[in-house]
Amino acid sequence: MGLARSISSFMFLLFLSSNAFRSLVLAEVTTTKFTFKGFKGNQTEIQTEGVSTIQHDTDLLRLTNRDHNVTGTAFYRKPIRLREYTNSSETKVCSFSTSFVFVIIPSSPGNGGFGFTFTLSPTPNRPGAESAQFMGLLNRSNNGDSSNHVFAVEFDTVQGFKDGTDRKGNHIGLDFNNLSSDVQEPIIYYDADDRKEDFQLESGEPIRVLVDYDGPSETLNVTIYPTRLGFKPKTHLISRRVSKLSGIVEEEMYVGFTAATGKDQSSAHYVMGWSFASCGKNPVADWLDLSELPSSPRNTSLSNKKGYSSKVIALIVALSIVTLVFLVLLFIFVMYKRQIQEEDTLEDWEIDYPHRFKYRDLYLATKKFKESEIIGTGGFGIVYRGNLSSSGPIAVKKITPNSLQGVREFVAEIESLGRLGHKNLVNLQGWCKHKNDLLLIYDYIPNGSLDSLLYKTPRINGIVLPWDVRFEIIKGIASGLLYLHEEWEQIVIHRDVKPSNVLIDADMNAKLGDFGLARLYERGRLTQTTKVVGTLGYMAPELTRNGKGSTASDVFAFGVLLLEIVTGSKPTNSEDVFLADWVMEFHTNGGILSAVDQKLGCNFNGREAKLALVVGLLCCHQKPKSRPSMRIVLRYLNGEEDVPQIDGNWGLSDSCRDDIKTNVVGYVSSDRASSSNTFLSFSEVSSSSLVSGR
Ligand SMILES: *[C@@H]1O[C@H](CO)[C@@H](O)[C@H](O)[C@H]1NC(C)=O
Ligand SMILES: *[C@@H]1O[C@H](CO)[C@@H](O)[C@H](O)[C@H]1NC(C)=O
Ligand SMILES: *[C@@H]1O[C@H](CO)[C@@H](O)[C@H](O)[C@H]1NC(C)=O
Ligand SMILES: *[C@@H]1O[C@H](CO)[C@@H](O)[C@H](O)[C@H]1NC(C)=O
Ligand SMILES: *[C@@H]1O[C@H](CO)[C@@H](O)[C@H](O)[C@H]1NC(C)=O
Ligand SMILES: *[C@@H]1O[C@H](CO)[C@@H](O)[C@H](O)[C@H]1NC(C)=O
Ligand SMILES: *[C@@H]1O[C@H](CO)[C@@H](O)[C@H](O)[C@H]1NC(C)=O
Repeated sequence: MGLARSISSFMFLLFLSSNAFRSLVLAEVTTTKFTFKGFKGNQTEIQTEGVSTIQHDTDLLRLTNRDHNVTGTAFYRKPIRLREYTNSSETKVCSFSTSFVFVIIPSSPGNGGFGFTFTLSPTPNRPGAESAQFMGLLNRSNNGDSSNHVFAVEFDTVQGFKDGTDRKGNHIGLDFNNLSSDVQEPIIYYDADDRKEDFQLESGEPIRVLVDYDGPSETLNVTIYPTRLGFKPKTHLISRRVSKLSGIVEEEMYVGFTAATGKDQSSAHYVMGWSFASCGKNPVADWLDLSELPSSPRNTSLSNKKGYSSKVIALIVALSIVTLVFLVLLFIFVMYKRQIQEEDTLEDWEIDYPHRFKYRDLYLATKKFKESEIIGTGGFGIVYRGNLSSSGPIAVKKITPNSLQGVREFVAEIESLGRLGHKNLVNLQGWCKHKNDLLLIYDYIPNGSLDSLLYKTPRINGIVLPWDVRFEIIKGIASGLLYLHEEWEQIVIHRDVKPSNVLIDADMNAKLGDFGLARLYERGRLTQTTKVVGTLGYMAPELTRNGKGSTASDVFAFGVLLLEIVTGSKPTNSEDVFLADWVMEFHTNGGILSAVDQKLGCNFNGREAKLALVVGLLCCHQKPKSRPSMRIVLRYLNGEEDVPQIDGNWGLSDSCRDDIKTNVVGYVSSDRASSSNTFLSFSEVSSSSLVSGR
């Protein structure tokens, strides 16, 4: 009995003492509290798993990046007491309070996913948890399992856990072991007038969340609002009794966050600051002053670095290459355009002249100045055949003067020459200056120069230029020269009358070319020494003395040319016998017709031939003043005026005549001399070298 009493009293004591012990322990359950104003240096307090990390540069807790199909968790490393005794035998979930500021930056606006949770978990991580709608919290096999002991407040941007679709969602939910939320609310806050305002979780702006649970009343209050609001809304988004919590929450639990991204949708989830308090008397989480938190993740990072998939990078590389190739082609094209459109860099004065051609047109007309298009190389430059779409066949003379000085004046002259119009002159269509070249555009004359007709063609084809054609050519040249000398508004000296400057058209009409060109060379010179322009053999004796061209010096050259046409012989032969002297010899011997081209045989008009030869001799008079003018020459040739007698004082010294007599026999044919005795002389020609022939 005593034993029984003592046992029962012991039991009682034991009961009492255990109660007392429990009361003692209960009394010691004080408030657990922590506050993170940024997370730098808190790696020891926060356990991160998956893709979660504390960013040391930004001071932020990043739950996920924008990679697809990833999870991340971050829990306070120490377990938190979450139950307390109400009386000696019962425990219940104690009050707790948490507050945090987060930012969600979607990978592209409107395509963020999936969301994150604030979680009470029995473990400081979520092994086996899945991504997407499972939010890194649970998986398809344990979802809804009461053994999970998981409570979460979810912040979801994708709707459709229940029906498996990925509709756009923007809601908050309360999850009790089951991601199909018992309680679900769209995201709104109550403004100062208690009106509902909705906003987006994934707007990229900082959003504040306040979660308060009152243990005695089992009430959970949740408030969420963008920090830009500046005040705390008085009305909670969620305020309700959550008796289910009691069956989930264990004595000690881990608190933290889980987050996940989806296969197609992804967001970066950031926590800027976090405070928590539980148990004890009226626990309230510290207020997180925005000014004390790290700055929010930059919105601009919406589309940078890790966000690029390999496809996008490949696309960027491809585009870069295409762009580069395009730029290179553009560069080449521009250089090409510049090359052929150089003339577009015009000097001011050039614009004033209407006969200017575009270099580009000439460049194309002559097939880029191709060698096969060359139809002649005269003293003044190379002549190309061309075909202009606008004006048909042309001849382009490309001149490269030693100096372009005086070109402006010359062009002015060309412009006026362009107005010259005579059937015995080659029509000058216009000009073009390109870099150091001057281009003159003439009508294209099909039969080439007299030069080739007189000397080359007969030998090749066996055709001899007939007499009547020769006589017409002579009269044509005379008529063209007369126009230049007297009939136009100003006197134009040709300065280079010779067979190669006489072109023959399809109807065998003579056309004088290259008139006025010698002026270019005279203007361009700088030296004081006189440079004689012209062709040896056709230059009047006075030219070698004063270098000044005159109508009389043109007449002299015409005279030589006339004799050349009649005799078929070059102005000087290999023995340096001057043609006029040679003809003069026949004249004084009374047999002038012997000088007529042997190739003609007897097929010529004797009266005309004699007339022509005498006129030729008159023109070759040593004294300029004694030569007839072109008007008179033409009258002689047309039989409108009698030809005067050639006096004995024709201009030769006795000694010269002696020379000629000895050389007459040697001057029969032009053949031997044909290759060597016409050339253009720009250089100084001493008078002695010219006179030496006589
Ligand atoms: C976080 O780290 C900072 C710096 O190390 C420290 O001052 C602060 O107390 C830590 N916060 C918590 C809640 O441990
Ligand atoms: C997501 O990732 C898990 C493993 O991390 C993998 O088993 C699963 O197939 C992935 N899902 C998709 C849709 O890529
Ligand atoms: C302890 O509290 C529960 C309810 O909270 C009550 O039912 C029970 O009677 C209480 N026990 C004591 C011993 O006060
Ligand atoms: C789901 O999670 C539980 C608990 O972590 C784990 O044991 C289980 O293997 C997971 N199941 C799958 C399919 O991942
Ligand atoms: C999870 O919750 C949904 C909706 O309340 C319910 O239909 C489902 O059966 C629950 N899952 C489990 C495993 O209890
Ligand atoms: C982020 O960008 C969106 C629109 O792109 C804008 O509405 C929002 O205010 C920005 N948030 C921040 C924090 O700058
Ligand atoms: C929750 O909100 C209600 C009003 O909606 C308030 O009476 C109560 O005290 C709040 N509880 C907590 C724990 O903040």
